[in-house]
Amino acid sequence: MNVILLGAPGAGKGTQAEIIARDYNLQHISTGDLFRHEVSQETELGLKAKSYMDKGELVPDQIVVDMVQAHLSEEQGFLLDGFPRTIGQAQALDAALKTQGKQIHFVLSIDVNKQALVDRLLSRGRSDDNLSTIENRLDVYQNQTKPLIEYYQDKDLLKTINGAQAVEEVAAEIKANLG
Ligand code: AP5
Repeated sequence: MNVILLGAPGAGKGTQAEIIARDYNLQHISTGDLFRHEVSQETELGLKAKSYMDKGELVPDQIVVDMVQAHLSEEQGFLLDGFPRTIGQAQALDAALKTQGKQIHFVLSIDVNKQALVDRLLSRGRSDDNLSTIENRLDVYQNQTKPLIEYYQDKDLLKTINGAQAVEEVAAEIKANLG
């Protein structure tokens, strides 16, 4: 099974991805975590990514797509968390999967209202969780990532999950949709 988790910053993608990947034995690929690892190791890729992450901008598509392709396992089903984030990334993913004879089975969009997102991120306090960067991340989500909802609706893959519930309740709703 191959799954994509969509959602605004703070929607709970990472939190849910850990639960779902563990319970369904999926490879969890978080592009944000991969970039943060590269930043912590001060690699060339990390230094490039950091300048975008600090501002809450998206890292350019080609860099992200190459990184995801390098991490996708041949054998195991995967759960993508924070990728794709643009139509360009989604198209690149479709093309890559097609060459491997694979497909996406479910796209879950975790929905949470803006004020709750801001409150969650401010109380977490990661280095990109300051108010001006959060506002920009939310704008970037609206403008560049939200169009993916329609993209996957058109492919009949999208399910919307109420993310404004307790963590266990969100996980239960996701599992009910995965069948
Ligand atoms: P990324 O790491 O993907 O960050 P994000 O999308 O901003 O997501 P977050 O990690 O903030 O939120 P989340 O939805 O995972 O929620 P979480 O579970 O952590 O990306 C960071 C940056 O990397 C980007 O800005 C960009 O620069 C770059 N990047 C990454 N991917 C990219 C791509 N594909 N293309 C280009 N650039 C890319 O939860 C948040 C908080 O809420 C936590 O404290 C958690 O405990 C809490 N919480 C979770 N669920 C609940 C709940 N149900 N109730 C109450 N609290 C909850």
